Amino acid sequence: MKSNQSNIKIAKKYLDKNMCIGVPTETVYGLAANAYSDTAVKKIFKIKKRPKSNPLIVHYPNIKNLNKDCYINNHFLKLHKKFCPGPITFVLKLKKNSMISKLVTNNKKTLAVRFPRHPIIKNLLKIIDYPLAAPSANISTKVSAVEAKDVKDDFGKKINYVLDGGKSRIGLESTIIDVTNAPKVLRLGGLEISRIEKVIGKKLKRIINPKKKNSPGQSRLHYSPGIPLRTNVKSPKRNEAYLVLKKNKKRKLNYFYLSKKNNLKEAGKNLYSLLRIIKKKGYKSIAVEKIPNIGIGQSINDRLKRASKF
Ligand code: TXA
Ligand code: MG
Repeated sequence: MKSNQSNIKIAKKYLDKNMCIGVPTETVYGLAANAYSDTAVKKIFKIKKRPKSNPLIVHYPNIKNLNKDCYINNHFLKLHKKFCPGPITFVLKLKKNSMISKLVTNNKKTLAVRFPRHPIIKNLLKIIDYPLAAPSANISTKVSAVEAKDVKDDFGKKINYVLDGGKSRIGLESTIIDVTNAPKVLRLGGLEISRIEKVIGKKLKRIINPKKKNSPGQSRLHYSPGIPLRTNVKSPKRNEAYLVLKKNKKRKLNYFYLSKKNNLKEAGKNLYSLLRIIKKKGYKSIAVEKIPNIGIGQSINDRLKRASKF
């Protein structure tokens, strides 16, 4: 059952006690806690088994609240106006007197911030008096959660509460842009880079090479379904799950369809749920058809490439 205003009030109670809860966003579910509290933030890293060196994204309801913690600039304002609330995360310079827990940033001088669009987290952010640190709600290096039940599957009794906002509309994590200097892309995601480039007026540099550590979460192994995955496959082996872009007339038991027609956005939305389903069904490996490297297809291919480093 989807959560309502009284569930949101219960969520606030847990958060006020420095506990972690699962929250829906339009990209993926987050494992959220008070970003101003060391106690609360420590729990996120522990529950998620996340290395302390990998900083968290902090979620704000509006720019007014963000102003207390970060320096903002024109590039940020332009992109914020066009895309927020929405699937974009900004890296900004942190103010010295900010109240953000040092554990969130691993003592870095920058902070990743986001303004989510999903009504449940938006309403939650309105009634609490701190921003929410929230990485994706999955065990570190594994596939992100796009439904409340995924969060429960991953963490079980380790967390007390999950707000249910239905299936995430986008299904891929936010696109991360570093706007501390000339804007750079740190992670491909739910917002197409071409749309961001239109607003900035030029091509953006991409720093998504895993060898460079600008966005430490861009490590080689990430988004892993827990079984081997290979990409650009024309014909799967017997017993292998085959993930294809569009529904096909020759249905076979081991075929899984990312979209009904040929829609990359729909494919992005379904990618993580299908990887979870395939694993649950007991398949030992996954083959994926070639996905066109355009628009959201670029983000899908980025995730598949990392998932294939099993
Ligand atoms: O869509 C999303 O962004 C979701 C929802 C819950 O908001 N969150 C998410 O968080 O994907 P997470 O922790 O799974 O990924 C955050 C990424 C990591 O790759 C991390 O290294 C990077 O953001 N990051 C965080 N702070 C950073 C910073 N100051 N500079 C550069 N990268 C940063
Ligand atoms: Mg993640």
